[in-house]
Amino acid sequence: MIKRIWILTLFPEMFKPFLECGIAGQAFRGERSDSIKFEMLFVNIRDYSQNKYKSVDDSPFGGGPGMVMRADVLKEALVKGVQEAGGYDSLDNLHVIYAAPRGKVWNNKIAREFGINILGSNEQDVVLIAGRYEGIDERFLSKYVDDFFSIGDYVLTGGEIAIMAMLDSAVRFVPGILGNKLSAADDSFEDGLIESPQYTKPRDFEGMEVPQILLDGHHKKIQEWQHQQKLMMTQKWRPDLLIFK
Ligand code: ADE
Repeated sequence: MIKRIWILTLFPEMFKPFLECGIAGQAFRGERSDSIKFEMLFVNIRDYSQNKYKSVDDSPFGGGPGMVMRADVLKEALVKGVQEAGGYDSLDNLHVIYAAPRGKVWNNKIAREFGINILGSNEQDVVLIAGRYEGIDERFLSKYVDDFFSIGDYVLTGGEIAIMAMLDSAVRFVPGILGNKLSAADDSFEDGLIESPQYTKPRDFEGMEVPQILLDGHHKKIQEWQHQQKLMMTQKWRPDLLIFK
């Protein structure tokens, strides 16, 4: 299956290192799995400006600081740009997402659902829009955007880093991407707890020994110890996770 992801951005070059490095890079270059091949396609929003200065924004009606990205430019970038970037059937088949502080706050549960149901399924292709400046004209958003996501309660200068964070955390859940050995199920948050501490060689690091239980080879005891450690780590580092709501 081929899964296309279009990114609408003023800075496609920001995604270059993301695509070049590590497991996520390999996945989104389409080189990580034979059963799912991602294709990442970029639309530079500026290419769809109608004016000779290639501007994409203008001052807000009603006054106020900063500039707002124009609805007509964004619409062209979505309708024409996505088509011109390749491999597109119809707007009806696209799931359009805008990264913005107003969105639902991204977490591991959303990442898993997004990874399995959106990235990992061939029902709809995905368009992710990265805004800049003070945002995008509301008329474009209300007509063309299906979902809004935020990566936290702070304001970035643009949505690109948010999109990379969302894609990186979601692709780990797409079947066939991590493989058995690197299962996402063992990671922090999967059971509402932080991961247990990890150790490798050397056995003695500056006088600190690896906990003996990990060297004894009793699988069940190790699991019990790791679970205890997870509870203690969570209590120490993220006690907010232990408060039942
Ligand atoms: N764009 C600007 N700030 C953002 C945030 N916190 N999350 C997602 N997109 C953003």
